[in-house]
Amino acid sequence: MVKQKPFSAIPLAGALGAEIHGVDLAKPLDRQTVSGLRQALLDHLVLVFRGQSITPAQHLAFAKLFGDIVPYPYVQGLEGHPEIIPVVKLEHEIVNFGGLWHADTTYLEHPPMGSILVARELPPYGGDTLFANMYLAYDSLSTGMKKMLGGLIAVNSSAKKAVTATRVVNKESKAKEDPTTPREAEHPVVRTHPETYRKLLYVNGAHTVSFKGQRAEESAPVLKYLFQHQTKPKFTCRVQWQPGTIVFLDNRCVQHNPVNDYHGFKRVLHRITLAGDRPA
Ligand code: CO
Repeated sequence: MVKQKPFSAIPLAGALGAEIHGVDLAKPLDRQTVSGLRQALLDHLVLVFRGQSITPAQHLAFAKLFGDIVPYPYVQGLEGHPEIIPVVKLEHEIVNFGGLWHADTTYLEHPPMGSILVARELPPYGGDTLFANMYLAYDSLSTGMKKMLGGLIAVNSSAKKAVTATRVVNKESKAKEDPTTPREAEHPVVRTHPETYRKLLYVNGAHTVSFKGQRAEESAPVLKYLFQHQTKPKFTCRVQWQPGTIVFLDNRCVQHNPVNDYHGFKRVLHRITLAGDRPA
């Protein structure tokens, strides 16, 4: 007898994203569900769970089913749960932590495989997150462009001006490391996903500064084109956070952009980041 799938995945948009129905993340998950969710993440890139109620300890237990947890260099974790990073925007703050298109920490040698975000405190409106599919961004390039990019290495830095401005540390997210000390890593512009073996575009507007062996101003025109291309609406989906929403994203092939449209209100997400391999 064929075992019934333990949950259903309803696509959110044509490009990526699916809502997962039929899983309670507060309960222990069996092996079939865990491997099903892992496959769903590879298929849909962003998984959205609704109506969940989990403690930080349950958040941690869920994340550990999918990999090793890595700390974030720039923000202190929760008291008692240092692996959980509070992503906080306060009422009076105008800048938004991470408020532009990016993949997380691609300036590290081993950027994270993914993140699991839990909505903890939401504004009455706004504060959605946009996601973009980097497989589609790559697939839709011309053959000539793919060929050119195939041989290039990108230099990624934590010190790009537009980003450091968004990392202003507020009272509730204490700094761990001086954000003015830049971190840098070189990764292929076209990355092969280590689990799906599909090619994807692996530069992002927040962290990629140039192609290796080129001056910043020589790389700039092509990078500018790619940053615009890879975030076209047809490659994206939009997630509206609700109390009880949990999002699991594949940081290897997805970029995200938290929309900063809720000035005057506070928003708190809890984030756990999973260890990734070296991009190749
Ligand atoms: Co981010």
